[in-house]
Amino acid sequence: MAASSVGILCLVFLFLASGTMSAAPKKVVHVPFTRNYVPTWAFDHIKYFNGGNEIQLLLDKYTGTGFQSKGSYLFGHFSMQIKMVPGDSAGTVTAFYLSSQNSEHDEIDFEFLGNRTGQPYILQTNVFTGGKGDREQRIFLWFDPTIDYHSYSVLWNMYQIVFFVDDIPIRVFKNSKDLGVKFPFDQPMKIYSSLWNADDWATRGGLEKTDWAKAPFLASYKSFHVDGCQASVNAKFCESQGKKWWDQKEYQDLDAAQYRRLKWVRSKFTIYNYCKDRVRFPTAAPECKRDRDA
Ligand SMILES: *[C@@H]1O[C@H](CO)[C@@H](O)[C@H](O)[C@H]1NC(C)=O
Repeated sequence: MAASSVGILCLVFLFLASGTMSAAPKKVVHVPFTRNYVPTWAFDHIKYFNGGNEIQLLLDKYTGTGFQSKGSYLFGHFSMQIKMVPGDSAGTVTAFYLSSQNSEHDEIDFEFLGNRTGQPYILQTNVFTGGKGDREQRIFLWFDPTIDYHSYSVLWNMYQIVFFVDDIPIRVFKNSKDLGVKFPFDQPMKIYSSLWNADDWATRGGLEKTDWAKAPFLASYKSFHVDGCQASVNAKFCESQGKKWWDQKEYQDLDAAQYRRLKWVRSKFTIYNYCKDRVRFPTAAPECKRDRDA
């Protein structure tokens, strides 16, 4: 092989390597459900498979169901693989979120809004800080989320909250304390997931109703990765633990490749962005200044 093509190969290799070495979250560890989670309600509507490595949430006309993490966490990386309710899922919502338990609560939400057979799901995300939400963004996905498992994850540190779909960042909420915006930093959060009926609002704004003849509706889960500082009641413990991988420089901001992918998602798949909604918000929220690539 000519020296120059070896050189080019090396460059390509370096380019690819630097792309993967950067801020993609640390390795995900696949663990059984019971390692980190317990059912929250309607225990008999959760089905276990494969030694608890996989579960299904079941929604019928009597009830939905949900589960929550055993621990509360302050910062970290949390993910699960989910296969959404297939077929006619209109009216159903599958959610994966982090939330603190107090009144002025912080919350980081993924909500998957079902649809009629063959019609696309919507992924709605939201962030609450100090009890204030109203930060909805909605996208279509670039795949059908009911066919295969895909991973959905949150990276949360002092600098940013990143929502990932299969390691592609779909939303970033930067710490905008300097703009007077509260950022979740001292209230530990639990991780939750649930499947319920929301046909009063979810699909085409509530026009499409859940077809109970199609019940039960099933959402499948696996992986259940949790890598965070497990906090007791207060935040002091995590501070005393020193710097973790998610505090390091490469996780404090997205890198150029990640910004490109974020931009691709946002330009191609955005349906709604609260930062652009001048009817609801004549003055955009302060953090919208940082809403890049909207
Ligand atoms: C459901 O499909 C309709 C028609 O394609 C679409 O307008 C809507 O955004 C889709 N998703 C939801 C959750 O309503």
